Amino acid sequence: MVPLKGRTALVTGASRGIGRAVAVRLAADGALVAVHYSAGETAAKEVVAEITDAGGEAFAVRADLGLDDGVEILFAGLEAGLNGRKLDILINNAAILDTTPYDRLTRDIFEQTWAINVVAPLFVTQRALPLLPEGGRVINISSTVTRIAGPFLHYAMAKGAVEVMTRGLAQMLGGRGVTVNTVTPGAVDTDMAAWLHAAPGIKEGVASITALGRIGEPDDIAGVIAFLASADARWVTGAAIDASGGQWLGHGGPHSR
Ligand SMILES: NC(=O)c1ccc[n+]([C@@H]2O[C@H](COP(=O)([O-])OP(=O)(O)OC[C@H]3O[C@@H](n4cnc5c(N)ncnc54)[C@H](OP(=O)(O)O)[C@@H]3O)[C@@H](O)[C@H]2O)c1
Repeated sequence: MVPLKGRTALVTGASRGIGRAVAVRLAADGALVAVHYSAGETAAKEVVAEITDAGGEAFAVRADLGLDDGVEILFAGLEAGLNGRKLDILINNAAILDTTPYDRLTRDIFEQTWAINVVAPLFVTQRALPLLPEGGRVINISSTVTRIAGPFLHYAMAKGAVEVMTRGLAQMLGGRGVTVNTVTPGAVDTDMAAWLHAAPGIKEGVASITALGRIGEPDDIAGVIAFLASADARWVTGAAIDASGGQWLGHGGPHSR
């Protein structure tokens, strides 16, 4: 079955990590995928090659979403690649995590985090409006840091804003038949979660407070996003779907068994 045959998708931050897995999965499901990247040109080309070698369709598009003209540059490349087609599925995935603790946080770090993690998805979605058809999908990526207090307040605040944005856009775009949802991963083993490997025992510690007893992998998230992108998810909008394996559901967990 190719559930997304004839559909198109843009995955921001698809050169690495979760975005890469999402791009590969949506392409395997039949979509033509725009593989967005910023610094990782070689990596993005590898993702496109992986997709096309498997018989799928993809093209790469570069834009630094931390810059004022990032959205316009992104859409110039996107529209060239789509060649007149609509954009059925928008995945606002690209983000940064600066691990400076709160007591050393600067305005620059806060503003860069806000620019890439909040301002960019807001205006990428706005710019996508004329391209989104009836039945379109917008999927934003938040994090369990919106329900579990952590040390990187600037990042958590930005993800909180993404969840608020999702509900508002779901209400606004519902009349057009476009769904808007958030997926909230817990710790996923990517470059962003390098802190998991910073000292012995951290990874095991996080696994021990996760109901399913391990760290997430990018494919775990890609599957949930593929569902939200599919026709089966047509009646889900304004939702935040926790895809954390049950990270920090409360006391207990795998080590209490
Ligand atoms: N990993 C986790 O534990 C975790 C947990 C919860 C939520 N999340 C969320 O999941 C999403 C993906 O995270 P990840 O772990 O896959 O991250 P990652 O491995 O660090 O990859 C980040 C992606 O974002 C792109 N990006 C970074 N800065 C950019 C910029 N200025 N302009 C445009 N693109 C930029 C990168 O592109 P280039 O490399 O090409 O520059 C890369 O493709 C993010 O929204 C993140 O907040 C992750």
